[in-house]
Amino acid sequence: MAKNSLTITDNRTGKQYELPIEEGGVVRASHFRDMKTAADDFGLMTYDPSFANTASCRSRITFIDGDAGILRYRGYPIEELAEKSNYLEVAYLIVKGELPNHKHYAAWEQNIKTHTMVHENIKKFMEGFRYDAHPMGMLVGTIGALSTFYPEANAITDLESRRLQTRRLIGKVPTLAAFAYRHTRGLPYVYPDNDLSYTGNFLSMLFRMAERDYQPNPILERALDVLFILHADHEQNCSTNAMRSVGSSQVDPYSAVAAATAALYGPLHGGANEAVIRMLMDIGSPKNVPDFIKRVKTGERRLMGFGHRVYKNYDPRAKIVKRIAYEVFEVTGLNRLIEISLELERIALEDDYFVSRKLYPNVDFYTGVTYQAMGFPMTMFPVLFAIPRTSGWMAQWAEMVRDPEQKIARPRQVYIGEVVRKWAPIDGRAEPTTREDAVSDQI
Ligand code: CMC
Repeated sequence: MAKNSLTITDNRTGKQYELPIEEGGVVRASHFRDMKTAADDFGLMTYDPSFANTASCRSRITFIDGDAGILRYRGYPIEELAEKSNYLEVAYLIVKGELPNHKHYAAWEQNIKTHTMVHENIKKFMEGFRYDAHPMGMLVGTIGALSTFYPEANAITDLESRRLQTRRLIGKVPTLAAFAYRHTRGLPYVYPDNDLSYTGNFLSMLFRMAERDYQPNPILERALDVLFILHADHEQNCSTNAMRSVGSSQVDPYSAVAAATAALYGPLHGGANEAVIRMLMDIGSPKNVPDFIKRVKTGERRLMGFGHRVYKNYDPRAKIVKRIAYEVFEVTGLNRLIEISLELERIALEDDYFVSRKLYPNVDFYTGVTYQAMGFPMTMFPVLFAIPRTSGWMAQWAEMVRDPEQKIARPRQVYIGEVVRKWAPIDGRAEPTTREDAVSDQI
């Protein structure tokens, strides 16, 4: 019997099965299909709602050790990248697997900057949104609309096409994001300025008014660039799973990135940074923190920016964001909401409810106060997450497209509904049932 294996006895039949354990701790779910009671039996299935213990792919992009609080892109620790690299270089690393040398970096930067413009019709398209439309909703819509401008992007197996769409998306998403922001302010759109850095240009498209030459504050530009590095990829999170899942139908990458952006919008994912600020404003003062924590513990409230599916330790990104926040405050002045954040963190990290559940601050806990100090409205926070995550989504998508083991994503289900019912004409139907599990009560 192989040492790296698992022996299972099916007590229904008495049969024994030996399953290989791969990659130091992975068992293929497909082996369970062999465990049958009869030849026409479907075999066993594994049941794992929300994929809490299921690997959906093999990936070389991002490594997380949630217990140790470790995050690495392509093997490089996040702390080192945040200190020494810039976002465009990290995007290259994530997409291509290696850090670029001078020549490759220059070509990459040029290639991304070539694609910062969007078709004029996109502007018209944006004008159709209501004045108070959420910028993240606008971003989802306009990224999806890009697929109609580049119909050839559906050639997903073509390497050159994948490269082109990757550059286009990394180049254009900041422009769409800035246009969405300007739309909410009723301000004219600012065209890209390719003399500025990737992040500097984004700030220019957002905040430029009548200046001839807009120059971003270098400390704020660097702070935002580091925040972009921290958000570039995070392995199989909800939006990346959406990217891979939608992309697995072989749809074009614009449609898949629109789906991933929609997944990121939710308050349990990229929308958490916005939800954190709303929560802090609601708490109002550090003195109200103990009462708020009590309400979290009774389940009445959720401590936004805390907890993570994978990290059962301090999120390494949160440590860096906390430091960046103070660098930003040096320029902008203190965001007083951070006093509430600090008190929340202090009390939560001593409280058994949070300690026993291993709930620590995640990346979103300190990003909101930082973005707010920089002058971003709350509705822009998830958009600021989507911009850098575009490189991660595209890298994950390309890995999926090239992976011979990947097929269209199609989970199984455990059917728990009615077995078979007799159809009756409408006149003869009883009052709808009020049972708890009745379909009419669920929506
Ligand atoms: N506040 C209070 N209790 C919490 C929290 C929280 N933020 N997070 C988890 N718990 C409790 C949860 O109620 C459960 O308790 P019990 O065992 O008594 O039922 C236990 O901790 C385990 O939580 P879970 O909901 O099973 O954990 P999960 O892995 O499904 O959820 C999470 C992960 C991030 C969705 C969740 O921690 C959460 O809702 N956090 C707040 C939202 C947030 O900050 N999201 C940003 C995530 S990081 C950036 C990103 O990926 O976008």
